Amino acid sequence: MKILGIETSCDETAVAVVEAAGGAANPAFKVLGNALYSQVKIHEKYGGVFPMLAKREHARNLVPLFEKALKDAKMLGRIAKSKRADAETEKKIRTILEREPELAEHFLALMPRIPKPKLDAIAVTVGPGLDPALWVGVNFAKALSAFWNIPVIPTNHMEGHIVSVLLPPKSSKLKAKNSPVKFPAVALLISGGHTELVLAKGWSNYKIIGETRDDAVGEAFDKVARMLDLPYPGGPHISKLAAEDRARHPKSAWQLPRPMLTSDDFDFSFSGLKTAVLYTLRKLPQIDLAMKRGIAREFEDAAVEVLVAKTRKAAKKYGAKSIILGGGVTANSRVRTAFAELIEEFPKSQLFIPTLDLSTDNAVMIAIAGFVEARRRGKKLSRSTSFRAQGNLKLS
Ligand code: KG4
Ligand code: ZN
Repeated sequence: MKILGIETSCDETAVAVVEAAGGAANPAFKVLGNALYSQVKIHEKYGGVFPMLAKREHARNLVPLFEKALKDAKMLGRIAKSKRADAETEKKIRTILEREPELAEHFLALMPRIPKPKLDAIAVTVGPGLDPALWVGVNFAKALSAFWNIPVIPTNHMEGHIVSVLLPPKSSKLKAKNSPVKFPAVALLISGGHTELVLAKGWSNYKIIGETRDDAVGEAFDKVARMLDLPYPGGPHISKLAAEDRARHPKSAWQLPRPMLTSDDFDFSFSGLKTAVLYTLRKLPQIDLAMKRGIAREFEDAAVEVLVAKTRKAAKKYGAKSIILGGGVTANSRVRTAFAELIEEFPKSQLFIPTLDLSTDNAVMIAIAGFVEARRRGKKLSRSTSFRAQGNLKLS
């Protein structure tokens, strides 16, 4: 089946077309089209994502990205020069996109001019994320569904991060083979908005066993980066400085705490670590590049050490056959090497890390999550479009 994925939960606007085959135990995927626009530059001056600005940018960019994804998938067909929707359809679309007037204009300018593609379903992120941003994708999916009469699968963004490991690197063939992901699995989801340890007994069968009590780990990277005068988002910049320090010095010259490292649970806390960086900086008369490198390295070591320790503990307790990483911080090279070392301690288990482009937010993972959900439901997909955006949606 062919699924259109739509992602607008935060500051990435993304649309993808994914072809999927097989069943839950032997899924196969092929990315046919993948269009993404990052708003990072726009939010940079605010040092974080500004929700109403994110909403405006999603509304502005969704239709062009949708057109590009369809074109890449060779599903756009010929675009008629001029053709309008009938009055009734136009009214229906304007009602659905009442709060996104610019998107309604783009939609009505394109949709009546293109033939209906062979899409079986639309998967859209309904949460978690920023409500104003989520609603743009949700309403766009509802408008597409109304216009082409295609079912919509409401999708959880965090499940998207988990299932992103189902797309093997450089997969170009659509060949169903048994999925190497064995259950139970422990998934560590690390992004700008979340830090969660999830026990998965199967696809779509999740239980959150631990989470951050304050800042998400990506958020801590971004805040520490700001203290060090590095651009937003700070994760990649911290990582670069940390690597430079490691190349120069075998040992870290700084000391930062490892919060909750030995606590008797699977929870995390990163706000104390962030504050420790702040106090360290305050004590310094001035800060030069060498100091920045050293602090970035020690901060990264501290954060990664806690992530690894809690995942090790969860993998042991639940006898995990797979350890899955997901979310933007998975792009961090220290995280990747530290978990590659961790899996050595579990010779019967396998580590799954998404490819770099699927680590950060994207629509391919949403289409894959939609497929997993469709397979779980088994029967015919619901035509209902009464679902809502849910900023606080949890995995369950
Ligand atoms: O999953 P994601 O794209 O968006 C959210 O759902 O939050 O994650 C973005 C987060 C940001 O906090 C960013 O700083 C962090 O991922 N990040 C990194 C790296 N690349 C992105 N953190 C550490 N090292 C990196 N290389
Ligand atoms: Zn994310």
